[in-house]
Amino acid sequence: NKKGFIFDLDGVIVDTAKYHFLAWRKLANGLGIDFTHEENEQLKGVSRVRSLEKILEWGGKTLSKEEFTSLMAKKNEEYLGYISKMDASEILPDVSKVLDFLEAKHQAVALGSASKNARPILEKVSLLEKFNAIVDGNDVTKAKPDPEVFLIGAKLLDMQPQDCVVFEDSVAGVQAANTANMISIGIGEKDVLHEADYIFKDFTEMSQEFVEAIISGNVT
Ligand code: BG6
Ligand code: MG
Repeated sequence: NKKGFIFDLDGVIVDTAKYHFLAWRKLANGLGIDFTHEENEQLKGVSRVRSLEKILEWGGKTLSKEEFTSLMAKKNEEYLGYISKMDASEILPDVSKVLDFLEAKHQAVALGSASKNARPILEKVSLLEKFNAIVDGNDVTKAKPDPEVFLIGAKLLDMQPQDCVVFEDSVAGVQAANTANMISIGIGEKDVLHEADYIFKDFTEMSQEFVEAIISGNVT
């Protein structure tokens, strides 16, 4: 039995939201706009362009096209500064255990992320070789909740969507998985991710029996 397991990156494999927060806050404050943790929460799973648009909306600012482009580049530069210091110690609890288990069971494993920095991040935390396919922000034209990122992932894994499982920490990502006709597994809070087929607080809460049941098709 073989299934396709597609992992989101930010918030599922590593907690990069804290670095996005620092970089966005610096940019927002530079424009005289406040930036809170609550606002950062709302940017989870949201593309880089859309994130800056939202910050400007919240702050009631408009920028020229040139300023917008230059700030996008600045934010990413700042973010990459934090990424460059990452290592395997930043992999979230039991993620490596699950990936090793899937590898031992000869399952198909892909990354499905909105980030254009997915490959460098996986490289920094030494997980790049754990994935049979990588789909990131450079490969898609439509952002989550559009299912494109996961459908491309399934195709690259040579798996049917209904034989794929998605791990997601964002509402938009769970919706994308559902629309793709895949099993959606929310990683995070129940009240936020209630649209997911299954929800675990983190991977330490997901049993090996559950993963085995997915592989054998006893969980649909
Ligand atoms: C998502 C993050 O995975 O990627 C968002 O949750 C982020 O916060 C988006 O904005 C795009 O990431 P990047 O690395 O291309 O700026
Ligand atoms: Mg995420």
